[in-house]
Amino acid sequence: MSTTPIGDLRAIVGEEHVLVDDDVRRGYEVDWTGRWGGPATAVVRPASTAEVAEVVGWCDERDVSVVPQGGNTGLVGGSVPAGDAGPTVVLSLRRLSELGPVDRSAQQVTVGAGVTLAAWRDHARAAGLDAPVDFAARDTATVGGAIATNAGGSRVLRFGTMRSQVSGVEAVLADGTTVGSLGGLPKETAGLHWPSLLAGSEGTLAVVTRARLRLAPRYPHVVTAMVGTPSVGAAVRLLGVLRESLGSLDSVEVLLPAALDLVASHLGADPPVAGAATLLIECADHTDPTDALLGRLESSPDVAATAVATDAHRRDGLVRYRDRMTEAIAAAAADRGDTAFKLDVAVPVDSLATLVATAERAAAEDGALLIPFGHLAEGNLHLNHLGVTDPERLTTTVLSAVAELGGTISAEHGIGVAKSRWLPLIRSVDELAAQRRIRAALDPKHTLNPHVLNAPAGG
Ligand code: MLT
Ligand code: ZN
Repeated sequence: MSTTPIGDLRAIVGEEHVLVDDDVRRGYEVDWTGRWGGPATAVVRPASTAEVAEVVGWCDERDVSVVPQGGNTGLVGGSVPAGDAGPTVVLSLRRLSELGPVDRSAQQVTVGAGVTLAAWRDHARAAGLDAPVDFAARDTATVGGAIATNAGGSRVLRFGTMRSQVSGVEAVLADGTTVGSLGGLPKETAGLHWPSLLAGSEGTLAVVTRARLRLAPRYPHVVTAMVGTPSVGAAVRLLGVLRESLGSLDSVEVLLPAALDLVASHLGADPPVAGAATLLIECADHTDPTDALLGRLESSPDVAATAVATDAHRRDGLVRYRDRMTEAIAAAAADRGDTAFKLDVAVPVDSLATLVATAERAAAEDGALLIPFGHLAEGNLHLNHLGVTDPERLTTTVLSAVAELGGTISAEHGIGVAKSRWLPLIRSVDELAAQRRIRAALDPKHTLNPHVLNAPAGG
């Protein structure tokens, strides 16, 4: 872009919102893991949909790639430049931080793409409601990024993934035109539905600028239990009992021993319970769900040990073992001069025990340390590794096994650059070709996130 007039971008968003200095750009060029990234020609920070449209159209005309970025908490290289992409603008959407009024009757709110999950939640809570999506990066991860990756987190069991929360969207196409609507009508059948098309498209079809989001009830009673179970199979059986008998069930997270031990040592604390699979279970309701949960746990042959908390302080004392897992792994990796190697996968829940056994075998063969944890109800494990010798081989072994079990190579983190090469394991040649045609129709010059979601040619 050295030959293109960057001054035009400054005229669109303001001088101080076009960042070109090396040290200022750096935080936008590398992802949270430190594993993915590349140089940007400039970081551009628009403050409105109109500015996004002008910037994207300007880049499209001049063959400058656009990498949309929210909080930069992604884990697969989907919101940072690639090493060899040519002139590239990182389009930081964090200034799109508008919070519209909460509509309590519709249980909806319109927010800017740069609003963080925590700000969405706090805004909903101030109106007596809640956000239906939550995960550990809530203070930094943005609504736009969560839509782009169809993020999940801990409450999917009750409310679904981010895709299920978007009743309207406003987005900018590669040529700078704006599409979508924010009416949020619960019922409308009038052709193509932009939220359905864009959720999970990883910034390749359009740049989301605002979203109409569903809200959840704010339950005054919450109980948290940490439960040790004797095996992954036992944990899955217990999940079935809880699901069929507890309408208040909000989340069922799982930590395998290597994960629980690591986070406990990071926290400098002894885990309150232990087991071959430790669950963190939350129930939330308008009346106290504690007795109902305890009744199920006490009568289950699959429960080895339980710690329960109902007040906020003691609940936080249990939740931190799950919430601070990613931070604990990053710290352990940094201590070894390493970066964590992450595979976010899901299988049908009754195949979880097989998946764990396969992942353990693959890690042992590689010489890597496996740290598995995740979201039990969705069969979603985050297979984190330290000290990997042969990442390609390890990935192929694990992802092939996942595909054979009828699972997916990406449950909630996305494909990004990290997993593009393995897409043919779960998508047919014809399907990938159809997806390429849709992408080319909306973005003929391949301006938006050109390095992301690219299956190998012929794959
Ligand atoms: C989580 O569930 O904590 C996130 O998906 C982050 C991670 O896998 O590291
Ligand atoms: Zn997760």
